[in-house]
Amino acid sequence: KKKPVIAIDGYSSTGKSSISKEIARRLGLVHIDTGALYRGITLFALRCALDQSGKIDCSMLEKHLPELELKFHLEHGELVLYLAKENITEPIRSQQVSENVSFIAKQSFVRDYLLEYQREMAKKGGVIMDGRDIGTTVLPEADYKFFLSASVQERSRRRHLELQSMGIDLPLEEVERNLTSRDAIDSSREASPLRQAPDAVLIDNTKLTKEETIEKILSFIS
Ligand code: C5P
Repeated sequence: KKKPVIAIDGYSSTGKSSISKEIARRLGLVHIDTGALYRGITLFALRCALDQSGKIDCSMLEKHLPELELKFHLEHGELVLYLAKENITEPIRSQQVSENVSFIAKQSFVRDYLLEYQREMAKKGGVIMDGRDIGTTVLPEADYKFFLSASVQERSRRRHLELQSMGIDLPLEEVERNLTSRDAIDSSREASPLRQAPDAVLIDNTKLTKEETIEKILSFIS
């Protein structure tokens, strides 16, 4: 039996990634976290495309893009993101990357650059891909599509805890400000904005645990 292609989109910190990772484990799929790719390009930009005032210069980034070596490598059944020879799992989670990633992700040259790579990875099936525009743009023909949502308060609380567990202690208000600002930029951009695909199942998990959300998703998958 052919393994499915599953698209999971939604707002920041709705648990898309950790839920997708667990579903991949249970169904024997490969989990592709597309947010990591946008974060990887942002890290690259912060290193090689800053102007004199320390802000990202998009035309400089575009010029340097051919030198970008951003790739997932399969390690122990999981995809790990590399920038050339460097494992960038940790640096892409920094606050500086989080603050800049939505600005980078709204550039259409960046989205165009990543589109084929993402489609190529899903071509053989057997993947669960999470992001913002997977069901609408990257994999409109996905077998199953879900759109995750939750209240801003709950999402901020979860993200705050997650950051704390990584040893990053930001005030809750700061975490909430970053979430709402990313969601606003992601939803209002012109190039493939964050939208629920018409054929996606909407799941509000404000009051659901991670396990309950996983079970709800699995109940739709035959
Ligand atoms: O999923 P994560 O929160 O790590 O994504 C970081 C950012 O990458 C998002 O806020 C969004 O700006 C961008 N992104 C996107 N399209 C995707 C995945 C992520 O624009 N498919």
